[in-house]
Amino acid sequence: MVVEDIKIIELPKFMDPRGNLSFVEQNNHIPFEIKRTYWIYDVPGGENRGGHAFRETEEFIVAISGGFEVTINDGNNSKTFQLNRSYYGLYIPKGLWREMENFSTNSFALEFASTGYNPDDYIRNYNEYLRMKSNGEI
Ligand code: TYD
Repeated sequence: MVVEDIKIIELPKFMDPRGNLSFVEQNNHIPFEIKRTYWIYDVPGGENRGGHAFRETEEFIVAISGGFEVTINDGNNSKTFQLNRSYYGLYIPKGLWREMENFSTNSFALEFASTGYNPDDYIRNYNEYLRMKSNGEI
């Protein structure tokens, strides 16, 4: 998968004077079985998250409140996505470098993952990532 193939996915939304509702289903809007859900919140101004790739884990990110940018890099090209609606989702296949930055105040990133937490699945060194990408190891 290369960054050109990655797009923001618009999720179902039910606009209602009582308040709006959106949802996701595994193997549907999220194209994998969800094994884990985590969230990032209380991000101080100017801080970044991410800065790694996964060998196997696929992820799906929603900005439940506020907004932030996600930059995906495939070793050749990068693309930055603005997640700032709670009915937008970003699917990140395995083997892609990601950075999350420019979090707005009170933003809340909800992340669905295709694997349980495994520190060995992380590639945290960008040069190592580029080497693995060019070797076809990931
Ligand atoms: P990390 O993945 O480095 O955060 P980032 O979103 O910036 O990439 O995770 C930060 C810490 O949280 C790390 O010590 C491991 C822990 N952690 C878990 O225990 N379980 C999880 O599912 C995740 C995502 C992180």
